[in-house]
Amino acid sequence: MKSNRCEVEATELDDAGAGVGPTTNRVVHVPNLLPGERAEVAIDHLSPHKAEAWGHVVRRLGPSSRDRVPPACPAFGRCGGCTWQHLAYPAQLVAKRRRVELALADVLAIETRGVTVAPVRASPQITGYRNKGKYVAGRTADDKLVLGAYAPRSHHVIDTLGCRVVAPVIDEIATWVRGAAEGAKLTAYDERVRSGELRYVIIREAAGDVMVALIVASGTSRAKLEQVANSLAGHPAVRGLVAIENDRRDGAIVPAGSSAKVLIGHGHLMEELAGVPVEVGAGEFVQVNRAQAAAMYARVAELASVTPATRAIDLFAGLGGIGLHLARAGATVVAVEIDRDAVSQLRRAAERAGLPLTALAGDAGDLPGDLRAQLGASPDVVVVNPPRKGLSEGTRELLHALAAPMVIYVSCGPEALGKDLLALAAHGYAPDVIEPFDLMPGTAQIETVVRLRR
Ligand SMILES: C[S@@+](CC[C@H](N)C(=O)[O-])C[C@H]1O[C@@H](n2cnc3c(N)ncnc32)[C@H](O)[C@@H]1O
Repeated sequence: MKSNRCEVEATELDDAGAGVGPTTNRVVHVPNLLPGERAEVAIDHLSPHKAEAWGHVVRRLGPSSRDRVPPACPAFGRCGGCTWQHLAYPAQLVAKRRRVELALADVLAIETRGVTVAPVRASPQITGYRNKGKYVAGRTADDKLVLGAYAPRSHHVIDTLGCRVVAPVIDEIATWVRGAAEGAKLTAYDERVRSGELRYVIIREAAGDVMVALIVASGTSRAKLEQVANSLAGHPAVRGLVAIENDRRDGAIVPAGSSAKVLIGHGHLMEELAGVPVEVGAGEFVQVNRAQAAAMYARVAELASVTPATRAIDLFAGLGGIGLHLARAGATVVAVEIDRDAVSQLRRAAERAGLPLTALAGDAGDLPGDLRAQLGASPDVVVVNPPRKGLSEGTRELLHALAAPMVIYVSCGPEALGKDLLALAAHGYAPDVIEPFDLMPGTAQIETVVRLRR
């Protein structure tokens, strides 16, 4: 066996979806190796800090796991997106629950009322569930335009057309966009030399309507963009096409405050949240699995035991998926969100629907005095739904100061959730319900709803 090679039998899955198994001197993470499977593995990277390494399968040894299934997508294993498509869905749900249990082990250890992590609520769809497609533009060696995703740890763009995870109309329109962009001779942007035109394409779908955003370098030919628009106007589902200039190098796809040039129709789609139509542009956060997000939001409102007297605060509100459900159930809601466009859209939606929801634009962890005052004193429930990295110290302090009898934490990052729940325990909050919801089948991602009482 070559010196950088070893034999690995996976015993676990890591939080990126790779199999993990021990060797004599380190644990090795191996994509596409399921627990119980053995392989000869070539080591690609050694951790400088820990006895850990990452590698890839060179040759499989022994039988496949009984949980191995054919992956749905043609680019599986190359695009880096859905790293668990080869794992049967029931086994994914078991592994996701275990991920939450491991991440919350310290909190569960100090919890005396016997609360456990509920079985994961399965998604009604395991393919075709994404209402948003995000594509990086690249080119092949023979200079053909590719729309896809960066291969893991590289700037090489893998073609992801044919993706089965996005709604079928999104894949259809992505294929159409590539043809139109090729026809218009729009060049793919090259990150390394910082030249070219088309950087990213975002395609959103709602109720069968589609909007497309072309994210382009400044100076991209207007005539070429119009030629793409003329071609896309022929597709019956396309309600809007916008071009957004972005010259940034920090990986932001639609930087905050970007302005969109509308080339066809509207710069937004109408998304329904709690039965309320809300405008969605290219950049705002919306859960990608609409049906499962609605089930999760409804459960949050149910856990909050809302009455017409309930005063609720929704921190990290986005376009109001949670806040609008609480308001629909009868609560008076104050929502806080950092994205100003999302706040304006949420305000307009709540006003049109006549719901008692006030949306404030600000950083939940660092609210100036006037906004802090608008949260009011003694809310009945505070819901937090932060990004994956969890709560900042400022947000934890805000929760402590608000001293609500109930906090509902909706988390997309189990490991950060574990740390935050320990910090909240120090402020007297203990979980009494822990319910994971699967919003992203085929991936290791898991959303968890935790109700805490003081
Ligand atoms: C996981 S999303 C949840 C959005 C919404 N609750 C939903 O279900 O669609 C997190 C949201 O927090 C916002 N956000 C990020 N940092 C923030 C901060 N420091 N203060 C307030 N909002 C923030 C993001 O813009 C995003 O809309």
